[in-house]
Amino acid sequence: MDDSFQDKTSQMQDVNYEQSLRPPAFSEFHGQDKIKERIMLMVEAAQQRDDVLEHVLLSGPPGLGKTTLANIIAGAAGTQLHTTSGPQIEKAGDLAGVLTNVQKGDILFIDEIHRLHPAIEEYLYPAMEDFRLDIIIDSGPSARSVQLNLPKFTLVGATTRAGMLTSPLRSRFGLVNRLDYYSKDELAVILERSAGLLEIEITPDGAVEVASRSRGTPRIANNLLRWVRDYAQVKADGTITGEIANKALAMIEIDEDGLDEMDKRILEAVIYKFNGGPVGLSSVAVAVGEDASTLEEVHEPFLIMQGFLKRTPRGRVAMPAAYTKIGATPSANPEELF
Ligand SMILES: Nc1ncnc2c1ncn2[C@@H]1O[C@H](COP(=O)(O)OP(=O)(O)O)[C@@H](O)[C@H]1O
Ligand SMILES: [Mg+2]
Repeated sequence: MDDSFQDKTSQMQDVNYEQSLRPPAFSEFHGQDKIKERIMLMVEAAQQRDDVLEHVLLSGPPGLGKTTLANIIAGAAGTQLHTTSGPQIEKAGDLAGVLTNVQKGDILFIDEIHRLHPAIEEYLYPAMEDFRLDIIIDSGPSARSVQLNLPKFTLVGATTRAGMLTSPLRSRFGLVNRLDYYSKDELAVILERSAGLLEIEITPDGAVEVASRSRGTPRIANNLLRWVRDYAQVKADGTITGEIANKALAMIEIDEDGLDEMDKRILEAVIYKFNGGPVGLSSVAVAVGEDASTLEEVHEPFLIMQGFLKRTPRGRVAMPAAYTKIGATPSANPEELF
């Protein structure tokens, strides 16, 4: 068995694990109350008018429930979901292929919509607005434009980088929703639900302990749950208590604020290598050996939300909490901090 095969099997197990825990309906989707209310209202209104849902944009860091919501929306509206992603649509023909499979009222889910090619976006505008697609077939003198009429459909777009969407694209969504990190209590409820589905014993303390180290993210909470379950099984009687969760997470170096290795490396780099900042994101990325976009989408929003980092026009700056976290003394020029 080669490595790539093993990688694939473990990825497949991850996908199965994730899907088995994915809430199938709004009633099981905990948190994001405002967004849920808005979407439910929109679904109800469309149903009353016997009309198709407006286009919906979902943005926010990975693992907060965008894909889950897209599925729930389709379920609530009683329509079919067609899934694709920005990078998968390479040419206009790919888009035409997807759109011609869509039936009236169906939902087309485009994940990572910020990664759509600008030329493809141009095709998407009339499709979203007037439900038609103008495509050019052939090239040179015989090139001609063909107009395809599409059934009325709903586009649900998901993005980790709402700021990267062009404003014409963004303005074509009837509803734009930004998902926020979940509170500790919300994550504890999500964890108890997951534990129930997986037949894992977890005490309320255990759930809170895992929740508080999950970076406000259900996907991380569910992944930590899996590790903590293994730990509880081998080192104890299988029940996840607060104490067991604490020990299990210490073993994989997830600290009490949920910061992982990379988060701490980022803070250390800003403080030690760049004297607390301000420093550009790409310099930090080089210093820690991680992709700049991963830093921007995954690590930075959480570090900012928790008050460890601040984004200024001149770059990223380490906040006092960051110094405390890694046990450093604040910069000699504290006025540079703010
Ligand atoms: N509100 C929620 N309640 C319960 N589980 C959730 C919730 N949001 C996300 N999850 C879980 O987290 C995992 C990741 O969610 P997903 O929708 O794939 O995130 P995204 O598409 O934003 O990256 C899913 O498997 C799902 O089980
Ligand atoms: Mg997703």
